[in-house]
Amino acid sequence: MNTETAPATGPTADPAAVGQVMGQLMADLAATSGMLLTVIGVRTGLWDSLAAEPATPSELAARASAAEPYVREWLRSQAAAGYVRYEPATGRYSLPAAVAALMTGEPLRGLVEGAGLQAAAQWAEVARYEEAFRTGRGIGWDEHGPAHSHGMDLISRAVVVPALAGWLAALDGVAPTLEAGGTVADVGCGYGSPTIAMARAFPRSRFLGIDADDASVARARKAAAAAGLGTRVTFEVADAAGLPSEGGEGFDLVTFVDCLHDLGDPVAALRGARKALAPGGSVLLVEHAGSQHTEENLNPAGRFFYAASALVCTPNALAHGGAGLGTIPGEQALRAVAAESGFSQVSRVGVDAPLNILLQLRPLPSGARRWTMGRWIRPGGSSAGTRCLRCCAPRSTRRPPGGASCC
Ligand SMILES: C[S@@+](CC[C@H](N)C(=O)[O-])C[C@H]1O[C@@H](n2cnc3c(N)ncnc32)[C@H](O)[C@@H]1O
Repeated sequence: MNTETAPATGPTADPAAVGQVMGQLMADLAATSGMLLTVIGVRTGLWDSLAAEPATPSELAARASAAEPYVREWLRSQAAAGYVRYEPATGRYSLPAAVAALMTGEPLRGLVEGAGLQAAAQWAEVARYEEAFRTGRGIGWDEHGPAHSHGMDLISRAVVVPALAGWLAALDGVAPTLEAGGTVADVGCGYGSPTIAMARAFPRSRFLGIDADDASVARARKAAAAAGLGTRVTFEVADAAGLPSEGGEGFDLVTFVDCLHDLGDPVAALRGARKALAPGGSVLLVEHAGSQHTEENLNPAGRFFYAASALVCTPNALAHGGAGLGTIPGEQALRAVAAESGFSQVSRVGVDAPLNILLQLRPLPSGARRWTMGRWIRPGGSSAGTRCLRCCAPRSTRRPPGGASCC
């Protein structure tokens, strides 16, 4: 009997299917190094120079004051990516208008550069990630270094800042208060660009930005000083759960811009925000859009945000003592966290923001009444309250006709 065994082999698979996976891996490799070239194109002005008119490599090199051999290979790679058109008859490359809009136009090119800077910082930390995956150790936002935070700020200035005034205008009852002169706290403010944008939109209001990262707060203070906003805008190093109330009077608005899902204890942070609100005040959550069901996010945006979650947001939450909500929490999970934190009213803000979901949270106002057992009652049992639980409107003690609530 032959006792020799066949040499061990890996699992067998259909060669055509393996070829397909190889193709996907090649696309990933191409995108990884291609993204670096794209960012280099932003920083060296190659995109701007090519947008001016079609060029051969030597013409573009001269126009952008760059070295021709680098420019030649850069153009070839971008043509293979489909960002640049190549005309073999003339040897010239050209930039389609839609590509130019993204690579050369402010503020969107900040998104390209910012995401690229963050990716570069994350690649440089591969050993730290390996250790964290094994041990479960957290990695705070402050540990990624200034290039990573700068990248975040570029993204924020490209995506959030241009939209923010419109978002605040879409909130129920907030803009009139801020126009008259209200108070706002921006939790997890980063470099403060959203805080400063809000301060510019509402020149009679006062703003406090807080962040756990002292380097980010230092940058935010410098930016506010450069913007000439005086004492109307201040920044403090503080944990999200430790929001002070504004001079004891409370804030008219507390914002969490792309921040709640980063926190180790989102419920504690929202409870702190609730306590720091002025009567009638509300909280704005700006979070990434997406479903709470994993199977509904299996697309390129889902892939990107789940990766960001594994590399930045979840590690930060772990560094702050929790597992976090994940970068795509989904509306249902956000509503559950809001309810657990004592917000009885949660409304979806109707804005055109394909990558974001916005929720406005309001607590049960003191004196609000609930329709229970055939009459309006105030929390604590008194029936002498004057406001509706859901819409905060003054109500009569009679139930409104034809509906379960007045709003
Ligand atoms: C995705 S960045 C958003 C920054 C800013 N809101 C923006 O849109 O530009 C998240 C921010 O939350 C801050 N952060 C994370 N954990 C925090 C905590 N426990 N308390 C306060 N800030 C925190 C980070 O330092 C980082 O600046």
